[in-house]
Amino acid sequence: MNRRYRKTIIAGNWKMNKTLTETKAFAEELKPMLGKPKWCDVVLCVPAVNLQAAIRLFKDSRVSIGAETCHYESSGAYTGEIAPEMLKDLGVKYVIIGHSERRQYYNETDVTVNKKVKAALEAGLRPIVCVGESLEQRDMGVTLEFITYQVKCALAGVGADKMRHVVFAYEPIWAIGTGRTATAEQAAEVCETIRTVIRKLYGARVARTVTIQYGGSMNPKNAAELLSQPDIDGGLIGGASLKPEQFVEIVNAANQD
Ligand code: PGA
Repeated sequence: MNRRYRKTIIAGNWKMNKTLTETKAFAEELKPMLGKPKWCDVVLCVPAVNLQAAIRLFKDSRVSIGAETCHYESSGAYTGEIAPEMLKDLGVKYVIIGHSERRQYYNETDVTVNKKVKAALEAGLRPIVCVGESLEQRDMGVTLEFITYQVKCALAGVGADKMRHVVFAYEPIWAIGTGRTATAEQAAEVCETIRTVIRKLYGARVARTVTIQYGGSMNPKNAAELLSQPDIDGGLIGGASLKPEQFVEIVNAANQD
């Protein structure tokens, strides 16, 4: 973390979990435990059907609500899809773009990720852009090249003036939901690479303001060490964000004085 230049953001990614009833119960449990974190922003990315309720439930708290994906057009014949403008109008602040599960199961490509990043920014949402290598790529020794490529693709055509709204999440695919976390050194190396790519594209002043998260089996035990790395400015948390007490512990790790 480097709080001087950029915000630390702890974001939950609920994926396809929690009904409306469970969302209400979660909010009731989380709110009193969370208090008012001074040093970090807290985000919960929830299933689309729960967005409106989540916004209402967390209205008087420090928690911002995010969506888990969006379309790149603002309206049209795209049955089942949700436009960034619709999310913005609801009061949604963030949207996850290009999560590896979306890339793997729903044909998201670097091209559609780029379109979605631009559309989200245009609508006034903050994209949380996910990048990450497979185990095969790590074993082949091409991780940094691959991440560089993904970051460049995601940012093609994004103006420097929009960059302070962009969040990156480095999520090695082999660490997602597996209980196998990247070491702090591995995560730090890739997050530093992401910042270097941004620096080359936009200059040092822009690069130092961009929040870069780590995601992949982050939990109350490993959060503090990961967050102690200078280029890791928070976490995108799947499994551990479904349990209020674990999520709060991670927020607390990011919120140490
Ligand atoms: P995990 O998921 O924390 O359950 O590994 C992270 C993510 O997919 O964003």
